[in-house]
Amino acid sequence: MTTIDALMRLSPVIPVLVIDDPAKAQPLARALVARGHPVLEVTLRTAAALEVIAEMAKVDGAIVGAGTVLNPRDLDASLKAGARFIVSPGLTEPLARAAIASGVPFLPGVANAGDIMRGLDLGLDRFKFFPAVAAGGIPALKALAAPFAQCRFCPTGGLTEATAPDWLALDTVLCVGGSWVAADL
Ligand code: 3PG
Repeated sequence: MTTIDALMRLSPVIPVLVIDDPAKAQPLARALVARGHPVLEVTLRTAAALEVIAEMAKVDGAIVGAGTVLNPRDLDASLKAGARFIVSPGLTEPLARAAIASGVPFLPGVANAGDIMRGLDLGLDRFKFFPAVAAGGIPALKALAAPFAQCRFCPTGGLTEATAPDWLALDTVLCVGGSWVAADL
């Protein structure tokens, strides 16, 4: 099993996917892989999400993870569906402990210094910065990252094709995520 750091470095732009129809899963995954996006985050925001993960996981070259994972129950269901990494909008101890125990690459969301410090206490130092734009954008992440030299981030929430390069130019940012990547597919 790979690490979350390796996944973040593999692909600078991670599509965040909200998919209702499992029949669309494989064609969409194939199109995104062909565009150079092998790492795909399927959010657990639709009834079909687990089935979509299982379908996308069959696509050659796709590394499919689950997003919007809120608790250990979601984690177990995602792993059973074949998710190879786990993303959460926030950082709770029950989910973080279960994810760490499972060994799956785990990217919890942070939006303030207390979140990051709780993550560090649990041995985590790779985080989703969410909701990136609403939480203050690039100036906020610069200020937030400054006391935590070892931490690296994946900003998501409100990014666009036009703004992604500005975020990726930050030393503390390994990748970005967003729904814009698949908006035309
Ligand atoms: C996420 O879950 O990471 C965000 O909801 C994606 O946000 P976006 O739709 O603004 O890209």
